[in-house]
Amino acid sequence: MSGVAESFECLSQRGVDPAAEIYARMFAAHPDTAPLFQRDADGGIKAHMLYEAIEAALDIENPHGYGANLIGCEVVNHQNLGVAPDVFVSFYATMRAVTKTQCGDDWTPSMESGWADLIARVDAIVARRLTP
Ligand code: HEM
Repeated sequence: MSGVAESFECLSQRGVDPAAEIYARMFAAHPDTAPLFQRDADGGIKAHMLYEAIEAALDIENPHGYGANLIGCEVVNHQNLGVAPDVFVSFYATMRAVTKTQCGDDWTPSMESGWADLIARVDAIVARRLTP
C-alpha cells in the first residue's frame, strides 16, 4: 500500500471525512474559485470531484493509467472553467495538508514521502500536458 493510501486508511480508521476542511482551505486560499461552484446546489459536484481526485492519486504510479490520464484531461477542462493550472495542482497540496493534520500522531514518514512523490508526479503530468 502506498503512503498516500495508508494516510486515507488512517482517516477512515479515525472516522474522519476530510472534504469540508479541504474545500474550506481551498476557498480560503483561492476565494475566486468559490463562485465557480454555483451549479453545485447539493454538494454533489464537490463530492464527486474529491472522489475523482483521490482515485487519481491512488492510481498515479502507472504513468499511462487512469489516474495520470484523468489529471491530464482535467487540468485542461479546468482551464476552460477558469481554473489556472497552478491552482488546479494546489488541490493536492491542500489535500495533503488536511490529511496530515487529521492523521495527527499517526502520520508517518512513508505517508510524507508518498505525498511528496504524488505531488511531484502531478506537477510532471500537468507540465507534460501543457507543453506544446
Ligand atoms: C483548486 C483546484 C480546483 C478547482 C478550483 C476546481 C474547480 C472545479 C469546478 C468549479 C467544478 C464544477 C464545474 C461545474 O459546475 O460543472 C469542478 C468539477 C470537477 N473537478 Fe475540479 N477543481 C479543482 C481541482 C480538481 C482536481 C485536482 C481534480 C482531479 C484530478 C478535479 C476533478 C474534477 C471533476 C472530475 C469534476 C466534475 C465533477 C462533476 O461534475 O460531478 N478538480 N472542478
